[in-house]
Amino acid sequence: MLLEVTDLLKRFGGLKAVDGVSFAVDRGEILGLIGPNGSGKSTVMNLIMGVLKPDSGSILLDSREIGGRSPNRIAGHGVSMVFQHSRPLHQQTVLQNLYLALLPNRLFNFRLSPDIDSRAHDALKLVGLEHFAGRKPSELPFAGLRRLELAKSLVRKPSLLLLDEPFAGLSASEMEEFSDLIRQLRSDERAIILVDHNVKGVRALVDRIVAMSSGQKIADDLPDHVLASPRVREVYLGRGDEAVFRRPHSPAPDAPSALKVEHVSVRYGEAIALDDVSLSVPRGEVTAVVGLNGAGKTSLFNAICGIVPASGTVEYEGRTPRARRAYEIARSGVVLCPETRELFTDMTVQENLGIGGNALAAAEKRRQTEFVESLFPRLAERRKQFARTLSGGEQQQLAIARALMMKPSILLIDEPTLGLAPIIFDAISNVIETLRESGELSLFLAEQNLTFALRHADLIHVMEHGKIKWSGPAGEFDAGSALIA
Ligand SMILES: Nc1ncnc2c1ncn2[C@@H]1O[C@H](COP(=O)(O)OP(=O)(O)OP(=O)(O)O)[C@@H](O)[C@H]1O
Ligand SMILES: [Mg+2]
Repeated sequence: MLLEVTDLLKRFGGLKAVDGVSFAVDRGEILGLIGPNGSGKSTVMNLIMGVLKPDSGSILLDSREIGGRSPNRIAGHGVSMVFQHSRPLHQQTVLQNLYLALLPNRLFNFRLSPDIDSRAHDALKLVGLEHFAGRKPSELPFAGLRRLELAKSLVRKPSLLLLDEPFAGLSASEMEEFSDLIRQLRSDERAIILVDHNVKGVRALVDRIVAMSSGQKIADDLPDHVLASPRVREVYLGRGDEAVFRRPHSPAPDAPSALKVEHVSVRYGEAIALDDVSLSVPRGEVTAVVGLNGAGKTSLFNAICGIVPASGTVEYEGRTPRARRAYEIARSGVVLCPETRELFTDMTVQENLGIGGNALAAAEKRRQTEFVESLFPRLAERRKQFARTLSGGEQQQLAIARALMMKPSILLIDEPTLGLAPIIFDAISNVIETLRESGELSLFLAEQNLTFALRHADLIHVMEHGKIKWSGPAGEFDAGSALIA
C-alpha cells in the first residue's frame, strides 16, 4: 500500500473532527472521500499533508510514518495537495507561478533542480495551459485557475495527490474536462484522493469510496455499493436524484414582478460583462439564471444590488429608486448572498448572524435567529466557533443564514450549492418551499448546477456572453438547455 492511515484522531477542543479513521490507498488507485459538511474530510487531507498534526494514530507513506511531520517534509516525500481556493501570485506569470512551486523549501538550499524548465513546461502541457505560460493568472478563466493549481502540485511529480473539491464552481462540461485530466494523471506510480460534493463526478472517476460522518468512517467499498448504502443515503445523499422535490409551477405571464431589470449593461473598462439585459423575477417565486462561468451572472447580481455601476433600470417591487446605492438597496429588502461569501472570518457564527440582523428589533432578531438556526442546525451547535474555522459547507450555510437574518423580500444567492452536501439541498428546498408558500420571499438564484436550478426554479433565464439567450418555465427548459450544454 502506498498510504495506510490507521486510527487517526484529531480534536478541536471538545470536537472530534476525525475520530478513529482507518483506510488505505494503493498506487494506481483513485479514492473518493465523501461525507456531509463538517464530517472531517478536509481535516483528513490536512493531516496527511501535514498542515494539521494528528492527536493520535498513524499515517504511513510507503511504510514510513509521516504523521505530524511538517508539510515541507511531507511534500518532499511525494505528497501534494490542491486546495479548494486558487491562490496564484498575481504579479507573476503562469510559468513563474510554477517555478515558485518548485523552489526548494529550506532557505539555505538554493540548488534548483536542473530540469526545472522542462518540468514546469511538462506540467503546463499536462493541464492544457501550455499556451498561457507567459500570461498573468488574472487572464485565466475560473477553470483555468483550477488547472494552474493542479499544475503547481504536479511539478513535484507527487506519488500521492490530494484534491479537495476540484469540481466546485465548475460547470458540467468543465467538470467533464477536468475529470478527463484527472484520469490522465492516474498512473501505476500514483494514488489520488478526491474529495468533492459532486456525487456524479466522483462516481464516474473513482475506483473506491470512503464515506465519513461526524469524523468516523461509515463505508469503504466500490462506488455503487457506498452510494446505495442506506446509512450514506440517510446522512449524506438525502432524497437524492429520485425525488420530485416540488410541484412544478409556471408563473402566470402577468404575475407581478419582484424585480424588473430593463436594458441593463455593465462594462469593466473595454469589456462588456452585461449587454442590454432585460428580465423579470416574479414575486413569491423562485427564479434562476443559469450559465457558464464568465457568462455574466455575478455582474447581473452586482448590478441589481448596486455594487457595480450599470446603465439601464431596475424596478424593485414596482419602485424605481432614483439613487441606487448598495446599502439603500439592501435596506429596502433586496439582499445579496455573494459567491465569495464575505463572512467576517475572525468573528463567531453568532456574531456574523448578529450583524446580519443588525437592523431588527431585539425580539424580532431573536425570532429570526431561531428560524435560521432551525434551518441550519449545525450553526446552532457552533455559535461560538470562529467563521474561519468552519468547514467549507458550514461557511456556505452561514453566508445564506446571515443573508436571511436581514429578512429580505428579495434574496439573491450567487451559486447557492457551492460546497454543499446533497442533503443540505433538501434543507434548502424545504425552506424555499416554506418561504414561498408564505409568499414572503422572492428568490433569485445564479446557478451552474443545472440539476439544482431545474428542481427549484419556476422560471429559468439562460445567460451566455453577457446576454439572456432564453427565458421560460423550468418545464420547457429543454429548449434552452442546448445553449449551455
Ligand atoms: N480550528 C477549528 N476549531 C474548531 N473546529 C474546527 C476547526 N477546524 C475544523 N473544525 C470543525 O471540524 C469539523 C470537520 O471539518 P472539515 O473541514 O474536515 O469538514 P469537511 O468534511 O471537509 O466538510 P465540507 O464538506 O463542508 O468541506 C467541522 O465541523 C469544523 O467546523
Ligand atoms: Mg472540506
